[in-house]
Parts: sequence; C-alpha cells; structure tokens
Amino acid sequence: MCGIFGYANYNTKKSRGQIVETLVEGLSKLEYRGYDSTGIGIDSEHEFDDKSPVKAIQLIRQVGKVASLRDEIASQNLDISEILENHVGIAHTRWATHGGVTQSNCHPQPSDSKNEFIVVHNGIITNYRELKTFLKTKGYTFNSDTDTEIIAKLFKYYYEKDTDLEFYQLAKEVLYQLQGSYGLLVKSVYYPNEVVATRKGSPLLIGVKSEQKLKVDFVDVEFINEQEQKQQHSESAHSSSNFLAPPSKVKFDIRKSESRAILPDYNKPIEFFISSDASSVVEHTKKVLFLEDDDIAHIDSGELHIHRARKSAGMSTTRPVQTLEMQLAEIMRGGYDHFMMKEIFEQPDSTYNTMRGRIDFKNKTVTLGGIKDYLTSIRRSRRFQMIACGTSYHSCLAVRSLFEELTEAPVSVDLASDFLDRSPPIFRDDTVIFVSQSGETADSMQCLKYCRAAGALTVGVVNSVGSSISRDTDCGVHINAGPEIGVASTKAYTSQYIALVMIALQISNHVITTAARHKEIIQGLSEIPKKIEKVLKQSEHIKEISEKYLHGRDSMLIVGRGYQYASALEGALKIKEISYIHAEGIQAGELKHGVLALVDEKLPIVAFATQDSFSPKVNSALQQITAREGHPIIICSEGDNIIDRSKASAMIEVPQTIDCLQGLINIVPLQMMGYYLSISAGNNPDRPRNLAKSVTVE
Ligand code: F6R
Repeated sequence: MCGIFGYANYNTKKSRGQIVETLVEGLSKLEYRGYDSTGIGIDSEHEFDDKSPVKAIQLIRQVGKVASLRDEIASQNLDISEILENHVGIAHTRWATHGGVTQSNCHPQPSDSKNEFIVVHNGIITNYRELKTFLKTKGYTFNSDTDTEIIAKLFKYYYEKDTDLEFYQLAKEVLYQLQGSYGLLVKSVYYPNEVVATRKGSPLLIGVKSEQKLKVDFVDVEFINEQEQKQQHSESAHSSSNFLAPPSKVKFDIRKSESRAILPDYNKPIEFFISSDASSVVEHTKKVLFLEDDDIAHIDSGELHIHRARKSAGMSTTRPVQTLEMQLAEIMRGGYDHFMMKEIFEQPDSTYNTMRGRIDFKNKTVTLGGIKDYLTSIRRSRRFQMIACGTSYHSCLAVRSLFEELTEAPVSVDLASDFLDRSPPIFRDDTVIFVSQSGETADSMQCLKYCRAAGALTVGVVNSVGSSISRDTDCGVHINAGPEIGVASTKAYTSQYIALVMIALQISNHVITTAARHKEIIQGLSEIPKKIEKVLKQSEHIKEISEKYLHGRDSMLIVGRGYQYASALEGALKIKEISYIHAEGIQAGELKHGVLALVDEKLPIVAFATQDSFSPKVNSALQQITAREGHPIIICSEGDNIIDRSKASAMIEVPQTIDCLQGLINIVPLQMMGYYLSISAGNNPDRPRNLAKSVTVE
C-alpha cells in the first residue's frame, strides 16, 4: 500500500546531497505503491542538544508525489556537500489508510517535536485506538491521525523506561504491543547510524552493496537465549488478553560471534538499501535478503543482524543472501508514454515467457516444476478452491469452466475478502489456489493462513518472486510476466490465465479421455502470442472507437457470456479504474433479468461475440439490445459473416482461437480502451486516483 525505503551507508564518502538523492530516487521507484504524500528523515546539520555531539533528525515531508518532495527539498537549502561517512536515512511514499492526505499525516512520523524516534510504516495497526488511549494516559499528545504515530511514541515510551536497551531489543518491546500488519523502519537520535527494519504481513527486503565480496551467503536468525524464551512464552500466553503488559526485564544474551551476520571489512565501504520491493534496490545491488514476518533486522556500524520479535516453531533459522535476476531496464518505460501501454504491448512476450520451458509444443506436454511433486495430492483433491482479488479474481473466473472440464472436480472461485467474511469450511483434501500478481495482497494472505490452518494443500500463482504468497504456499507457479508497474493489471492477467490453464492441463495429463482436448489447447496456446500481436496492431482503430463512442460518457455496459463473462468483468474493471467512467460487466444471459431496462440509443455497450458454443445465445442478447435501439460495439471473430453488423456502432475483429483461450485475445481491446479513455480524460493511467498497486491492507 505504501512504499518504504531506507539507506544506510558506512565508511563511504557520501555527501548529504547524494544520500538525499538515493532516498528520493528509491521513492520514485516505489511511487506506484501509493502517491498521496512522501517524506524523508535524515541527520540534520545541527546537534540534537547541547550535551551530545549527535545530530538532530530532520524531516522533509510533502503532500503529493515525489516530484513535490523534490521541490520541497530544494526549497530547504540543505548543506548538500557535507560528507556523512556513516549515516542512515529513511523514506516513505504513502497511500492513505488512517487519516487524510495532510502534511501532519505524512511519514516519517515522529515520536515528538524533537524527532527523537521517527518511523515509516506500510500496513495498518488494528489496535491503534487502544494504544493511543494508553499513551494519552501517559501524557503523550498526538499531532496526526495516523496509526503510525503511536509506533513512534511507543518507541519513546519504552526507551524512557529502559535506556540501556539495544535498538532491536527496544523494537521487540514495541512490536509486542502491535496488532495488525506492518513493514517498519525506525531511526532515532539515541541510536545514531542505526536502523531497525521489521515486518509482519508486509514485504521488506534488504539489499547489500559492498566493494568486497560478501563473506556470507546467508544470515543467521539470532534466536534469544533460553531464559528469554521462557519469558517470551509467558508473554505470548497472555498477549491477547493483557494489553500493554510490562516489558520484559530479562536481558538478551545473544552470542553475536556465533551468529552469521553481514559484517563490514574494517573501514571498507558498505551500503544497505531496505525496501518494500526490489524495484528500488536493483539499480544499486543485486544481493538481497528477504525478511520474514517477525524478523527484526538491525543495521549498526555496517553490521546486519537479524533477530526475532517472536518465536515461531519450525521456521528457518537463516535468511539467504539471494541474487536478484531483475534488470533495471525491465522496470523502465522503454519508449512508451506509460507503463500500462508498455505492459499491454509486452503481452506477446509475457504470455510466451509464462509458457517458456514449461510447454513442449512439439510433443504437446506441460511440465510445471513448481507443482509436479505435489501432483498426487492435488489429483486426490475432492474439490478446487480459487481465491484472489480484482483482476486476479477475474483470471480465476476465466479458467473455471476449463478447470472443471479437465479435472472433473468442482471448482469454486472466491473473492478473498468475501471468503474471509464467510469463513467457509475448508478440508484437508481441498486444493486451494491463490492467484496474485504482487503475492502480497493482504486479503489473499489472510485466506492463505486460514486455508493452511485447515490443512488444505495450497498452491500459489504469483508474479513477484520471493513474495509472501509464493513463500507461504506449499507449491506453485510463477507466472513470469516480468515486473508490472502500471497500477491497472494487464499482462499479469493474461499470464495468470495461461498459468492456470497449464495447471489444469498438468493435473489432468494422465486422463486418456481428455488427451485430444489437451493437444488442441496446447496448440492454441502456442499461437496466443502471435494472435495478441495482431490485436495490438489495431490500436489506432481501438483508439478512434474509444474517443468517438465512449469518451465523456457517464456509464457503459460490457456484455459477455460463457468464457467471455470474465472478459466482461475484467474489461469493465480496466475502464473504471483508469478512466473513472462507470462500466459494468454483465453476463449476457442476465440482460433480460433487469439490466435491459438501462438500454436505449444512448447507452454505450461493448459486446463480446467471438464464435464459440455460446454464440447463438450471445446473438440473441445482441438482438435484445438492438431491438431497444442499442448500438453495441461488437468484438467478433475475424471474418465473421454470421453476426448482424447493421446496428453496431463499430466492429473490432480479433483472431479466433479455441473457446477456452479466446479470453486471452478478447481482453486486449478492452485494456486498450481503458488506456485511451484514461488519456482522453486527462488522467495518468499508471497512477489512478485512490488506488495502489499492491494492496497490503485488509
Ligand atoms: C486491477 C488490479 C487489482 C489487483 C488486485 C489484486 O487492475 O490490478 O484489481 O488485481 O488488487 O492484486 P494482486 O493480484 O497483486 O493480488
């Protein structure tokens, strides 16, 4: 939801100007996660107080996008040439959840007017009201409406109770009080040149850059000693009922020398980049560690240690230093005006990449390494449950009937939020498939926890490698669509669709009766990239239609049936979210049950009428529309000579493929319509208002 970024440099010759630029550049890469306001916290030019040589912390915060922050920084006349050999800065780009888009709600949030502790936060603290009430009784006053401010104040509160605590120990005391989700970075005047980074249900990774080869390829999680474990055990026993139990008085006894950590070579430069995602780190370093929930990463004097906020049974005791494969060029716009258009036009490649190395087109077989070891259990499932949100949910709907056809098992598709509200029965012999571009969507993550607790087999279908869903599911498939930056999902949809089709094919590849259908589908898949390319060539035609018939309208219907119902829903979502025109996806069979009352000569309608076994029924829906003076824009199969074109306001002919794959082709004109409508309305399609790319709050 929000983007957090931290930069720690040790033994480097970095100037304040370079440090600020690194922070701001980091934010610009994360801006797609939220762009209501931005802010940075750095060491200022002045001492914190007369008694100590420690620098005070300076906050520069601004409502609006990163560009406004740059202007604000320029207006502050910082001493940009001062060399800060050892320094920690933290930064934030916000998507408002608690509190409006105001200056006082910008992050970093300070503990007090002297900025003793400052915090950047992604997520939501669900018990913030209780904590706020408690802190008020201790004399704290609040200057923002954010839940984050209570975190900064809790740091101060526990620090004042015991000033001997190390920074990560202090963090543990604070985390013990927090409920909800968070990715946090904390900086303090009492711990100069240190930063604490921690997460729960919100992604966080740390990039490490060093001129020397790193001596470690993993970092040990530094578990607490036995005495403290007992203490922690009793804490967790009462944690749900005893609000603000007194902090532990037991001191930690971690033998650092025995733990593998990232340590600098003496006096050699080392830099750390902490971020909500890899896009802001990859330009600096490809060496990264992904933090797990309840990890507390503590960076101090060039050393990175990882501690645990809570003990969790059976968890890994190391965090590997991984090498990112992502290229910076991959996340740049590459000649297009917007990421969204770039991503729409990438679909011939991205769909191919989803299949590459997995489908043997010659022998017509599918092998998905990520699920093959679980096939026996998957095949034994009594039913399949798919869970997702938004566009990812639509990709599940698009493949549902094929899944049922090939697996001969019932398939339910649920919106994650609705699934959570219902808490339906889930059984040990269910297979639950989680589809998510980001792999971080909070609603889907909650469902995953629920299904795991019920003992179901969980399968992830995600784009972001290393994301929470990809790590927490039993097995899964990466869709390999490449980074999707535009907030409106396009290439992830077509790749999710293909990944799900491949899963259905792999699950059923032992069934002789479906062999012919398998071959037909695999042949169809092999032609998809070229067919999408053909649709993309019609971009001018689609632009003209959008401008002539759809631009400036208040509302429209998108009609589809059978395999195209999902296309109608997804097409409507694309138009709504970036053009802000109301668009409703309608199952064509439902027209006569109410929606037809809306139809007249003025209402814009887009109808999917490509040929498949439902065509006669779709044609009858078209007649219902034209009989009421409706003039639909019809998306039909190339060369179709059955359909009545006489009353259509426009036709878009698309290549024909087999029924269950047609949605991969048909969605492309709607993605382009959404884009062109957004442009003609003067919007930025990459940054639709009120939305964020990764929705890590429930
Ligand atoms: C719409 C869109 C959203 C996401 C939804 C789920 O264009 O992108 O509807 O599909 O927020 O996100 P993921 O797939 O990351 O779980």
